[in-house]
Amino acid sequence: MSQTAITVKVSNIRKVAPTIREFTLTPVDGDFFPFSPGSHVVVEMPAEGKKIRNAYSLLSDPRYPQSYRIAVRLQPESRGGSIYMHEKVQLGDELIITPPSNLFAPDWRAKKHLFFAGGVGITPFMSYIPEMLRQNADFELYYMYRSTQTGAYVNELKEMLSNRLHAYDSAVSNRADIAKIMAECPQGTHIYICGPESLIETILKIGEKTGWPKSHIHYEAFAAPKPGKPFVAELKKSGKTVYVSEDQSLLEALEANDVEIPNLCRGGVCGQCMSTVIDGEVEHRDNFLSAEEKASNCCIMPCVSRSKTGRLNLDI
Ligand code: FES
Repeated sequence: MSQTAITVKVSNIRKVAPTIREFTLTPVDGDFFPFSPGSHVVVEMPAEGKKIRNAYSLLSDPRYPQSYRIAVRLQPESRGGSIYMHEKVQLGDELIITPPSNLFAPDWRAKKHLFFAGGVGITPFMSYIPEMLRQNADFELYYMYRSTQTGAYVNELKEMLSNRLHAYDSAVSNRADIAKIMAECPQGTHIYICGPESLIETILKIGEKTGWPKSHIHYEAFAAPKPGKPFVAELKKSGKTVYVSEDQSLLEALEANDVEIPNLCRGGVCGQCMSTVIDGEVEHRDNFLSAEEKASNCCIMPCVSRSKTGRLNLDI
């Protein structure tokens, strides 16, 4: 990672749901950077001989950055990052992380804030809530999970929020009527979503149908890049040829070959890593480019997108 990388020690590990492990990280030297609600850090994991880098939201109270907390859901079908965090990382181990970045900050001008969390998507809201309470903000949390797998922090949230928490456990067939919740919001409400793609899409579709201003709906997808077919990237500016294996993102392969490009979310939403395509067909997997931009094949988001045809020529 860059020179700003921070070495941290794992000072606590606890299971907070059947498939979710929480890690407390403390700095090896000096102090942590302060952060704002909704921030994330990128954790570097030397999984199976390669470096996987995944972004995780900070769970801690932003006013007390003496330690950072993150929670990782075990995703057995993923590229190995979550398996590494669940099976290899032990108390006292050192990890490398980036300083916090924020792509999901609350809009404090909102009259009311509605949070929709799905499963491990509760994490960014854990840093929102202490600040919302201090600022006496009007907010409610709609938390959807399956208690046989997820549902971290439910008891803690019940104590903290009482009737501001609406918990829906699909393991007991308890589901939220999202359209009704949105219809009953006062004007000036902002919605924040973190969870699986299906939850984000459902809320965006309801918003579109019922005329919600786009600027009032904020979302963060927490999924790490998915594996795909291996391919080769020819880089015009650096003159390098980079092999991207099936369980590696193009961004990770570039970094492994000492080609650094800007990046923040590493999940296809922020647009920082956008790169120009000279030749080759892109399998677009991001949520940043418009349908027209994707169809024109002019650019690629290397943190998540891949090649359809086995080879890409890029202006990097
Ligand atoms: S790093 Fe954010 S879109 Fe690639």
